Amino acid sequence: MFSYRSVAFLSLSTLAGGFASTVQPLGIPFKSPVAVAPGFAASVIFSNLTTPRGITFDNKQNLLVVERGFGVTAFNSVTSGWERNVVIQNAGFTQGIQVDGDKLYVSTATNTFVYKYDAVSKSVASNVSPFSIVNGIPGDGELTTHTLQLEKDASGKTVALLVASGPFTNIDVTARDPASGRSQIRRFVLPPIHFALPPPTPLQWSTGQILAFGIRNPAGFAFPPTQPHPLGSKSLLVVENGASIDGLSNFTAAFVNDNPADELEFVTYPTTPAAITSTTPKTYGFPDCTTLWNPLADPVGNPGFVNKPRGYQFSLELDPAKDDAFCQQIANNHPPALSFQAHSVPLDIKFYTPSGITSKAIPLSLRGHAFVSFHGSFNRSPPTGYGVVQFPYPPHQTSNTLGYTFLIQATNLSTCPGTCIRPVGLAFGNDGRLYVSSDSSGELFVIEKA
Ligand SMILES: *[C@@H]1O[C@H](CO)[C@@H](O)[C@H](O)[C@H]1NC(C)=O
Ligand SMILES: *[C@@H]1O[C@H](CO)[C@@H](O)[C@H](O)[C@H]1NC(C)=O
Ligand SMILES: *[C@@H]1O[C@H](CO)[C@@H](O)[C@H](O)[C@H]1NC(C)=O
Repeated sequence: MFSYRSVAFLSLSTLAGGFASTVQPLGIPFKSPVAVAPGFAASVIFSNLTTPRGITFDNKQNLLVVERGFGVTAFNSVTSGWERNVVIQNAGFTQGIQVDGDKLYVSTATNTFVYKYDAVSKSVASNVSPFSIVNGIPGDGELTTHTLQLEKDASGKTVALLVASGPFTNIDVTARDPASGRSQIRRFVLPPIHFALPPPTPLQWSTGQILAFGIRNPAGFAFPPTQPHPLGSKSLLVVENGASIDGLSNFTAAFVNDNPADELEFVTYPTTPAAITSTTPKTYGFPDCTTLWNPLADPVGNPGFVNKPRGYQFSLELDPAKDDAFCQQIANNHPPALSFQAHSVPLDIKFYTPSGITSKAIPLSLRGHAFVSFHGSFNRSPPTGYGVVQFPYPPHQTSNTLGYTFLIQATNLSTCPGTCIRPVGLAFGNDGRLYVSSDSSGELFVIEKA
């Protein structure tokens, strides 16, 4: 079944970085059953991992995974199944992972590090110490999973590192001020990195360019395949998980079971020094403004919403001056490009831009589509999420059309979380298949054409 890949995987099962490699055979079932969309198939690659979160491919098509609480591991296909090698053992890594040739970037709660990495041996250099690239990131909040994304220029050269920061608390009023460093994405122009030379001075979080703020937890972001903007600016699609609003007295339990929506944010930002200086970053509304998912969630208890459309921007009334009218001003609150069902908890987004095509590749009819992982709800009855969705980009959603479809989802949501899939990281292989990490079930799996 994997024969078209086999030539790439002649490496021997030897020690990498002093750790034995392990192989899991094909055919191990999911811990909990999954439903897969017609025309697709899904299979487990590896089980019993330590909270797998961010994932990415290196330039030898090894799948690198942050196993949160353990470190970074590498996975490659072998004749009998999939092989796992330990790349770095470090319990401090939270989620972010990017690779650029021999540079491996990871994030901890307060810092980002770069390691000298070798994709052939799937190991980091033992004679070159990793060093900090960006430090001073707020690390004391509820969410310390700092997602990372490298930015390349038009020639394909890596020029900057984008770093996300979540809120201090569920509803964090300090995030109104972009200087708080909370609920935002910052950009750092990378210094030259030569491992043979002394490391550059770490960049300080406080000096980063703020790309957008008021995005509660910007857990995943990706560049769309076509950049609609002229040279000198970039657009970025960001998935945001909304606040839990069950502690607010204005909203009933039935209303908050289906509200607010999680969001897809369309962000544009300048990349030239002059434009950076003259541009004020946009706010996306957190903590004051949020998005309606189900207007009819409680027609009796919260009747004010029944005539409002899905996607309506409303106020959490944390401050009397910041009412619905305030939230409808784009200067105060940039509305989402797409709303996701409340409690979906989107954690990653990737665009399908296949270069080659194999018999198992996701069909070309989905070229340019966005794929989003839904980690799933912990406070909704019945549960929702626990799957991966896809949608055309730009998206199209109305009050009557969802605008996205599930590729895979836990079969019986009533059993979740339990051992259900809880998707986090997404990565497309050069084989056109979609690889997914699932943290609480400890699985890595792949979605392909049936
Ligand atoms: C995962 O761990 C469980 C519990 O220890 C064990 O029963 C199962 O065989 C393991 N699965 C694999 C594929 O190793
Ligand atoms: C929302 O709650 C606050 C504080 O409990 C209250 O002062 C305000 O009147 C409420 N707003 C609405 C529209 O019910
Ligand atoms: C789903 O799981 C629940 C809880 O374990 C169970 O009661 C129910 O029968 C299951 N539904 C189906 C269709 O298997």
